[in-house]
Amino acid sequence: MSEALAPACAAQRTVTILANEPVAKDTYKITLDDPMLASQITPGQFVMVRAGLGNDPLLGRPFALFDVVRDSTGTPVAVELVYLVLGRGTAELSRKRAGEPLPIWGPLGNGFSGPPVDGGDVGFVAGGIGFTPFLALGKWWRGTASYGAQGQHTGSLVSLARLYYGARSANLFAGLNDFAHAGLDVRTATDDGSLGHHGFVTDLLKADLQAGWRPSKLVGCGPAPMLKVLAGIAHQYQIPCDLSLENHMACGFGACFSCVTPIREPDGTTDLKRVCVEGPVFDSRCVVF
Ligand code: FES
Repeated sequence: MSEALAPACAAQRTVTILANEPVAKDTYKITLDDPMLASQITPGQFVMVRAGLGNDPLLGRPFALFDVVRDSTGTPVAVELVYLVLGRGTAELSRKRAGEPLPIWGPLGNGFSGPPVDGGDVGFVAGGIGFTPFLALGKWWRGTASYGAQGQHTGSLVSLARLYYGARSANLFAGLNDFAHAGLDVRTATDDGSLGHHGFVTDLLKADLQAGWRPSKLVGCGPAPMLKVLAGIAHQYQIPCDLSLENHMACGFGACFSCVTPIREPDGTTDLKRVCVEGPVFDSRCVVF
């Protein structure tokens, strides 16, 4: 696809790295100097980053917004992304330093819908690197920050925001202080028992629901098996639930079809949707696992 045919947000540009620091094992937070992106992006949207592997403009990695950096007047000036080092591209990215240029395109994707209209409790469920969207989403729904064209809110839009955060091991957790500072009630789980509940993060949600807690909305981001369990829980308790999918992406703007996933339509049929354009956030009732 030529740049002229691509949507404006898909136009690749080069920004300057302000910081690129480890925040957990194999996990880095990169800060990008991009006031335009910072003023437009909303929670749940993502940015494609090209770490320098060849010249193919379609070859990038999708990273969800972690948070927006604001100056002393409150004006958005930079964007924070958090990523896990998984292969050659992200390993190369982790070696980049402040002051270096970085090709990116975005904001991309649909982002999260608004908080529940009844202002009730919400439950966020994160697995692994799937924790990244929940700081900005938590700040938005708790009324402490606004993003993109959202108006400034006064007071929290939800009663309680609880984050269930699971990882393989304690040394993979990132942002726990950020989440606590943002007012989220954080519950942790690990596969090896090194922090919090020893077992699946969805076990914690199930226990709270069995004890009578009834959030007005659930939101999940993480590996597909975790999202499938969460969708089942949401169905069982009849709680609206949004899922942010982590499908592999190459272009991020609808051109390559590397990210398609089956989605159930209102008439019961199933269609293949591009996660980068029609998602990454879908109603859990529509996702076919
Ligand atoms: Fe290319 Fe979605 S990543 S169409």
